[in-house]
Amino acid sequence: MAKFIVGTSKGLKGNVAISGSKNAILPILAATLLTEEECVIKSVPVLSDVTALCSMLSDMGIDIVFQKEQEAIWIKAKNILKTEADYEKAGKLRGSFLIMGPLLARCKEANIPLPGGCPIGSRPVDLHLKGFSALGAKTQQAHGSIHITAKQLKGDKIYLDFPSVGATENIMMAAVLAKGVTTIVNAAAEPEIIDLAVFLKKMGADISGEGTDTITITGVKKLHGAEHTVMPDRIEAGTFMIAAAITKGDIMIENVVERDLKPILAKLSEANVKTEKIAEKTLRVYTTAKLQPISLKTMPFPGFPTDMQAPFMSLLSVIKGTSVITETVFENRFLHAGELQRMGAKINIESRSAIIEGVEKLTGTQVKATDLRAGAGLILSALAAEGKTEISDIYHIERGYYHIEKKLKKLGADICKVQ
Ligand code: UD1
Repeated sequence: MAKFIVGTSKGLKGNVAISGSKNAILPILAATLLTEEECVIKSVPVLSDVTALCSMLSDMGIDIVFQKEQEAIWIKAKNILKTEADYEKAGKLRGSFLIMGPLLARCKEANIPLPGGCPIGSRPVDLHLKGFSALGAKTQQAHGSIHITAKQLKGDKIYLDFPSVGATENIMMAAVLAKGVTTIVNAAAEPEIIDLAVFLKKMGADISGEGTDTITITGVKKLHGAEHTVMPDRIEAGTFMIAAAITKGDIMIENVVERDLKPILAKLSEANVKTEKIAEKTLRVYTTAKLQPISLKTMPFPGFPTDMQAPFMSLLSVIKGTSVITETVFENRFLHAGELQRMGAKINIESRSAIIEGVEKLTGTQVKATDLRAGAGLILSALAAEGKTEISDIYHIERGYYHIEKKLKKLGADICKVQ
């Protein structure tokens, strides 16, 4: 099993280019099932989640070429030979459930294994299914999978109890070929939803309101092929911003969309981390003064993203004073706190809040990446810690960060990957 060995790394400096967004490419890949024509996707992050979804699509008889050096995918779903997903493959990523909406729209049927729980929470799919049912689909659960069928999808008004990102995307993709108008109320407004809508519109879909809490979709008869460049990964960008702050470095972060980073930039500013727009898509992140403790609460966009919670916990654990993080999106997303405590962090978990007393220094030891963002947080803590840190279970990290060790090394970090 591969591990990262990380040593103390002060003052990271230089430029880093942010890859395409993991959370945007997964629904976009799923959306290519909606047309029998060719689609070309550029700025694709080379991540294990992306290769896993490509492999699932390939099993369904879809022509797909992932040109990793060019970070591009060429895909043509001319014939969909089966509408069933393999349990082993689907279980690797929750994003696999996103093929249900497009399959239902195009083939009127799908059989997808339930994604099940994961370390950060139970992660049900009831809102996805509620949306499909409103469109006229019939769902049946048997043998751990959801079998869904529909004769003709018909638009309807769907109220989401929570602005779920995945449910909003899945319902949008089912509704684009439905008869009539679908309105999703209390929809997720994340930037990745907008990127999906942009791609669907390039394919000929009629969508409005994306990026707000009400999305309206007027069904069309057919969609066609399209070309799209995936939006930059705002969570990867945020992670490198914390790398600059925690090492008291000075990093130029390239290929970012400032608007998408607003909640992260606001909290960095409160903590006294400086950010400066250098060019249209480049931000400079650095520190000049003492950093300040802060309080933050994770929320759906435009609130503070839950995926940045673990990286911020790493930073706050070395800022003198008391910081409080409240996690409202997932019920069990503090597993990394235990690993940080092993490195000397002082963190008390009280229900959905983590109370962090900043310490003078962390010390390196053996720690385990419990999930994707928790793993990224551990790398950040390790950069600031005294001595070497050995991080295991890094396959979690590689699900969402393309060559993180190479990018950090280029900025001067002491990090290597060992088998
Ligand atoms: C997506 C992101 C993930 C991010 C999350 C929240 C992808 C591939 N993943 O995950 O990185 O952390 O958004 O921003 O884009 N819920 C239900 N019923 C449902 C669906 C969700 O109760 O049917 C609950 C979940 O358990 C969770 C909350 O809603 O507590 C948010 O989940 P959701 O927004 O759906 O996250 P994902 O789409 O799974």
